[in-house]
Amino acid sequence: MRYRLGLEYLESYDAGEFPEDVSARYGIAREKIVNLNSNENPYPLPERVVEAIVEEAKLASRYPNPSYAELKRGLSRYTGLAEENIALANGAGELLSHICTLFLEPLDRVVIPLPTYTMYAFLAMLRDASIAFVEPAGEALYPGVEEIIGAASNAKLVFLCSPNNPTGAVVDEGDIMRMVEGTEATVVVDEAYYEFCGRSVADKVGEYENLVVVRSFSKFFGLAGMRVGYALACEKIAGLLEKIRNPFCISRAAERAAVAALQEVEYFRKVRDKIVQERERLFNELKNIPGLKPYPSEANFLLVKLLRMPAAELMDRLYRRGIIVRNVSGLPGLRGDHVRITVGTPEENRRLISALREIMA
Ligand SMILES: Cc1ncc(COP(=O)(O)O)c(C=O)c1O
Repeated sequence: MRYRLGLEYLESYDAGEFPEDVSARYGIAREKIVNLNSNENPYPLPERVVEAIVEEAKLASRYPNPSYAELKRGLSRYTGLAEENIALANGAGELLSHICTLFLEPLDRVVIPLPTYTMYAFLAMLRDASIAFVEPAGEALYPGVEEIIGAASNAKLVFLCSPNNPTGAVVDEGDIMRMVEGTEATVVVDEAYYEFCGRSVADKVGEYENLVVVRSFSKFFGLAGMRVGYALACEKIAGLLEKIRNPFCISRAAERAAVAALQEVEYFRKVRDKIVQERERLFNELKNIPGLKPYPSEANFLLVKLLRMPAAELMDRLYRRGIIVRNVSGLPGLRGDHVRITVGTPEENRRLISALREIMA
């Protein structure tokens, strides 16, 4: 055997259904499908961003400059942190992988409060870490800070997600800082959805060597297909994350798109305001549909508990109407059947609501 035995038994990451697949399976035209699966930004990109991508495509035969100096300058302005505090990668997902590579030796302890984004456990397993999951008590959607700190003694890493995927809840800043100050572990705060809530601990990374913030261009900046992510950390950790990445991890077009997006931040803030407004409208509509229990969210998606229909049945009935949401039932730490719904455009949300009213009637 030439490969590591355990990898054969690892379950692949489940990215849910994609529009092309549902289109082919149910015979529905691709453009009729409403995709509320992946927490993407449903609004068009500004012209300037599209032009930057098209322009850069002409240079696709050339390597990107591995310093990514322009992107770092833009991110430094956007975050208010020095370029030395910034590390880049091909999406937040890849940064999480680099963080595991940087910190974890086999059997190192990693604390993961549940329910949360499944990639933390997946990536820690690839490093043969010993994972301590912390489950919420009773009806709670996240464990208490005391339980997390308790589990974190002797841990190398703690993975927090704020706002948390799939619940949409923000982890209290005071609680995060208690974990940072009260444990030896490095606390990783995944802020992929930060801009939808506006609350961040990024301003603390200069002060605490055991705090790393991870961010993405896939959500607020609408560049999921381009693959750009970054981490904010003390100079030492940011420098090491920079050192271990692939020198050309971000394509030329993706870098140019991200730089242009940072110059259009006002546009994205307006889009964000629309998404937040729609999220609240969607929450109120869902609350009034019998059998559905949505949870308040500070991200661009809503977690919904299904009180009287199995998620598999609801998913199938939504697919037949050309609507894709994510079935998150069975996610560790979530009890009962749940779906996660990305906030779409007003028209997409209307289609979802009318389908759900019909299905749940
Ligand atoms: C919490 C969280 N972190 C990270 C990611 C990955 O982001 P990226 O597209 O930048 O790799 C996602 C994507 O859905 C996410 O939900």
